[in-house]
Order: sequence, then structure tokens, then C-alpha cells
Amino acid sequence: MTRILAIESSCDETSAAVVEYDGRFDVKSDIIASQIEKHKLFGGVVPEVASRMHIECISNVIDEAMEEAKVRFEDLDAVAVTYAPGLVGALLVGVNYAKSLALAINKPLIAVHHIEGHISANYISSPDLKPPYVCLVASGGHSTIAYVEDYDSYKVIAKTRDDAAGEAFDKISRVLGLGYPGGPQIQKCAEAGNQHRFEFPKVNFENSYDFSFSGVKTNVINMIHNMEQKGEEIPTNDIAASFQYCVCDVLASRLVEIAKEKGVKDVCLAGGVAANKKLRELAEKYANDAGIQLHYPPIILCTDNGAMIGARAYFEYKKGNFADSSLNAVATKNM
Ligand code: KG4
Ligand code: ZN
Repeated sequence: MTRILAIESSCDETSAAVVEYDGRFDVKSDIIASQIEKHKLFGGVVPEVASRMHIECISNVIDEAMEEAKVRFEDLDAVAVTYAPGLVGALLVGVNYAKSLALAINKPLIAVHHIEGHISANYISSPDLKPPYVCLVASGGHSTIAYVEDYDSYKVIAKTRDDAAGEAFDKISRVLGLGYPGGPQIQKCAEAGNQHRFEFPKVNFENSYDFSFSGVKTNVINMIHNMEQKGEEIPTNDIAASFQYCVCDVLASRLVEIAKEKGVKDVCLAGGVAANKKLRELAEKYANDAGIQLHYPPIILCTDNGAMIGARAYFEYKKGNFADSSLNAVATKNM
């Protein structure tokens, strides 16, 4: 059995989890201290504020994760931490803590890529999932469809050429006055709206599965501003529903198209946007029609959390891929 303490601090959640692997993953604890309430005041994540809040709570989060898992530091096999990509000041808090802890307790240190962590959340919730499969990772900073050939081998087949899907949700939510983070707010309003009232543009590039969300975003914003200028009442629910449908339909349909091209039996959703009900519903529909099995983690494992980092760390541990004390935080890095 392998037991790992995993730390995540790449954006606005400080999280620590104890994850065990013994043929399948068992999450013993997954403590998440969210800074969302603080960043709401500013309408989005303020990097400097995020770093300071990570520093304030990281020790308590780790203590709580160890207590809930009822383990001692000497019972661990390794300490893992997200080192890229993310806000550098935020990442550094976790990286520095993990380095010092690994040194103090004399355990190996494992550096985890955040997006590989998001993908690996699926191994926790779908224990029988095995590569090859195709995975959509859609979060506040990333929108990628990856062909997961093997546990350590990813090929990015599609990516956004501008905004990430979550970023578009957050922006539209702000313009509609719904606040941060946008995804859950848009989803709530969309439930009471007509998703076919407005048709927003879906962009296709030649010979590429890439997507673009800046067009739909600008389209929605211009429409809202025009309505405001004319003194019309803003149909918030219908706009939210039509926008959500447009973005989710592109993501879900492309995921399944790529899976068909690759000839895989499984597709997965990952990242904060994977919490979206409409995305799950559309992906389920397209996957079913194609005879492909859809997997997605529970919401708590979709948004940033330590358990997904622990799951990814296990595969690094198995390879003996350990980091040394020169480990640094990296803002942007491909898988
Ligand atoms: O993965 P995550 O927690 O952090 C990053 O790595 O970015 O993703 C956060 C993003 C935010 O943009 C948020 O609005 C979006 O995920 N999100 C959602 C939903 N819940 C969170 N987007 C759509 N629908 C949701 N229910
Ligand atoms: Zn994330």
C-alpha cells in the first residue's frame, strides 16, 4: 500500500489530502480551504491576496488532513505538491511547504502537474478506468482535450486559442452581475432559462479541433450592452442558458468526435467546468449515441483539491520520479 500526503495551492484553494493506493484509490482526507468569499469582493482572483491567504492557512489545512486521515508523518511514503501551472506566488507557498516537510520527515518529494492532477481525479471515482481514453480538461485557466495514451503519455488534440471555458463563464457572470465564480451562478440561472432563445457563434478552425470562446463572450457582452442602452430588461436566465449551451455543446461534441477518431471506449471530464450539469448531460448524450462510456468525478473532485494531486502523485511514485530541493514553481507548463 502506498500513502501520500498531497498539497495543492495553485489558485484560490489551499488543499491537502491523504490518499492511499492499494489496487484502487482511497481518499482518507481531502481538506479544502476556499478563498472564494475573499476574492468575490474583487470579482475575480487577486494573485497577491491568494498568496497571502495560502500562507495563513496551509499549516492548519495540512494538520487537519493528517488528523482526519488518522496518520502520522512517519506513516507517509511521500509528500506531493502541485508545482505548475498556476499563479507563481500561490504555487510557491505549497512548493516551499512540501519541500521543507519532505526534508524534515525524510520522505521523497513528488512534483505534480496541476492538469495531470485534474485528469487523475477520474481514477479515484472510476477505479476501473484505464488508458487509452480521451479527456476534456476545462477549468478557469485551461480548456484542453487530451488523448491519454498511457498513464504518463498525453497528446493534446484540441485546445482553446484564446479564453478558457471557465474564464468565459466567469466573465459573462460578471457582466450579468451574478458574481464570482461564474460557473455555478450561470448554471443556476440557466436552469430557469430557454437555452435556444439566442444562438451564439460556434467557431470551427480548418483541420483542427481547437476551440475559441472569445467570440461568444464578446457576442454576449455586446448583446447585453445593446439591451442596456435601449433600456430593455436583460433576460438573464435565457442569456445564461443560451451561453452555457453554446460552450458546453462545443466541448461535449468535440470530446466525443475525438474519441471516435481515436477509437477509444472511454471519455472523461475534468476540471472546474466538469462540475457543470449541462456539460455532463450533453457529454452523456453524445457518448451514449457513440457507444462510448463517459466518466466524471464528483463535483468536489472537479474543482481544485488535494486528492487529485495525490492520485497523480501515485503514478510518479511508482516510477520513482522524485523531485529534489531545487524544485521551483512554474507559471505555465505543458503536460
Ligand atoms: O479547476 P478549477 O477549480 O480551478 C482552475 O484550475 O482554474 O476551475 C475553476 C473554474 C472557474 O472558472 C469556475 O467558474 C468554473 O471552474 N466552474 C464551473 C462550474 N463550477 C466551477 N463552470 C461551469 N459550471 C459549473 N458548475
Ligand atoms: Zn484547477
